[in-house]
Amino acid sequence: MMPNFLNLSDAGGDAVAAMIADAIDRKAARAGWAKAKADADAPLAAHVLAMVFEKNSTRTRASFDIAIRQLGGVPMILDAGTTQLGRGETIADTARVLSRYADAIMIRTDDHAKIEELAEFASVPVINGLTDLSHPCQIVADLLTIVEQGKALPGLELAWLGDGNNVLSSLIEAAGLFGFHVRAGCPQGYEPDASFVAAARAKGVRIDIMTDAREAVAGADLVVTDTWVSMGQDHAHNKVAAMAPFQVDERLMAGAKSDAIFLHCLPAHRGDEVVDAVIDGPQSRVWDEAENRVHAQKSILLWALGKL
Ligand code: CP
Ligand code: NVA
Repeated sequence: MMPNFLNLSDAGGDAVAAMIADAIDRKAARAGWAKAKADADAPLAAHVLAMVFEKNSTRTRASFDIAIRQLGGVPMILDAGTTQLGRGETIADTARVLSRYADAIMIRTDDHAKIEELAEFASVPVINGLTDLSHPCQIVADLLTIVEQGKALPGLELAWLGDGNNVLSSLIEAAGLFGFHVRAGCPQGYEPDASFVAAARAKGVRIDIMTDAREAVAGADLVVTDTWVSMGQDHAHNKVAAMAPFQVDERLMAGAKSDAIFLHCLPAHRGDEVVDAVIDGPQSRVWDEAENRVHAQKSILLWALGKL
């Protein structure tokens, strides 16, 4: 079967653990090097990564671009708005054509069904750079960041605050794969995707969904949040009002363990889901998390191309 990476479970826990280990090794091996210099083994020399963006991106776009270069390969960026995809060429035909040009395709899109269709018709691996449903590449970088902080994943208590969105879906999937627990503090009506919750619970981890933000963070090892309004969602006034009690501020953060770290996939909406004092504070690891997107993408690419 084609090693697509549409969700973390496509790879499974062992492969994601191998990605994290490889990312740690590669990151250490090139410490202090110029950013565009290829890794010593250049394992993807002469390979092309096509990247299709149907939504905006800073980190995913830039980190995959650097990642493929550091692996010795070449990036090819296609903004959907300037391609025929944006004028109605089908996903299936796009998949067939890009498979002739590139060795792997990364796509950021809206409906998850689109990436499934792309994967069905592509003859090269397809990687999910975010859909409305999930954001698995982000979570490989998050897991790498957590492990780097010296925290073992099994048994961790992760508090999520705010919207039950695509990033939370992939975190919940990771909880099931690595044996950590999630306490999701979400307003009523904004709970995480039920199928991801059920799949993680079936693996024996606790996924608690609660409407009290303080209860969610109490004693947590990690506090994680994300935008209240994801790309493509209407900026509903009601939603923002419902989210207000879930803003991560210093008081809320103080309810977590004293050595808890704060993560946010970014972009942050300072003053909404998080205040400056937390995102710029001593417990925040968001810049390491953002850097780790590069190291994580490299391992994801190596896995997808059978080099891990
Ligand atoms: N975290 C993340 O995926 O950021 P971008 O939207 O900038 O890619
Ligand atoms: N949940 C956010 C993540 C952005 C990286 C969104 O989908 O817009």
